[in-house]
Amino acid sequence: MTEPISNDGKIDPVCGMDLIELPGLAKSSYLGKTFFFCGDKCLERFQNNPEKFQKAPLIKLSKVQKVFKIGEVETRALNGFDLHIWEGDFVVIIGASGSGKSTVLNMIGMLDQPTSGAIFLRGQNIALLDDEARAEMRSKTFGFVFQQYNLIPWLAADENVALPAIFAGKKIKEGELESRFQEIGLKERMRHRSFELSGGEQQRTALLRALINDPEIILGDEPTGNLDSTTGNKILEMLINLNKNYGKTLVVVTHDADIANKSDQIIVVKDGRAVRDHRVHKKIYTE
Ligand SMILES: Nc1ncnc2c1ncn2[C@@H]1O[C@H](COP(=O)(O)OP(=O)(O)OP(=O)(O)O)[C@@H](O)[C@H]1O
Ligand SMILES: [Mg+2]
Repeated sequence: MTEPISNDGKIDPVCGMDLIELPGLAKSSYLGKTFFFCGDKCLERFQNNPEKFQKAPLIKLSKVQKVFKIGEVETRALNGFDLHIWEGDFVVIIGASGSGKSTVLNMIGMLDQPTSGAIFLRGQNIALLDDEARAEMRSKTFGFVFQQYNLIPWLAADENVALPAIFAGKKIKEGELESRFQEIGLKERMRHRSFELSGGEQQRTALLRALINDPEIILGDEPTGNLDSTTGNKILEMLINLNKNYGKTLVVVTHDADIANKSDQIIVVKDGRAVRDHRVHKKIYTE
């Protein structure tokens, strides 16, 4: 067993938040070492399973800054974002519109690079990789479910689903697409071009596409946002099933408090930073 390291009140081992200058930290001892936490939620998670938090997190964001520059206008979307994501967790990212949620998700999923700071995937700083290495690691590791489905409209539903496998050089087994479409109740529609499908059908197709390469980490940006509640719940059930029964790490951006309350860890984003209270407050995401 690795020797536990006291965190000296510098970084919350559970959520990854920088604790320096934060007053009133929670603390706990484990194997003779003292650990500090941003609040009672992280303390509780640690005490439930301290062993889990002795290793390196699956994903770690450290002091991530992201500045978008359009002409003379600069927008600081992320302003020193720190975060730990643990293998097998279901993490919900919540916060007001414009707070930086999608930007964080794009950083995690290697769709965009930080202006400064580091992003580690299993201990490797992925912010430093070149485009080709990033694209390869992205397609091997992540599945994306976004609010805009981004299906290619003139391709059939099954062709859209097969695309990431083709890019990754993987062979799809005979009959696999049929059985996957059957599972989501769309077998009859799988040969239709995607612009002929309803919003919910397109979203389900996009979900299959996200899962075709059997990704270790599934990222959803408001994955149920445009859907009626029945279809939305079905998609969510599928995602949560992949987390609970197949050990997939699931990170979902949402405005939905009910979804947040099903998760292992809530990350609240405000003004480009994670805030220390990992609860859902109505005013945070409606103000
Ligand atoms: N490509 C971009 N170019 C310029 N500014 C951007 C870009 N992407 C995001 N921003 C700005 O960065 C800030 C954070 O945006 P982000 O999309 O992360 O917010 P969000 O929390 O996902 O909001 P929403 O809930 O509305 O989706 C916003 O002020 C946004 O206008
Ligand atoms: Mg967004």
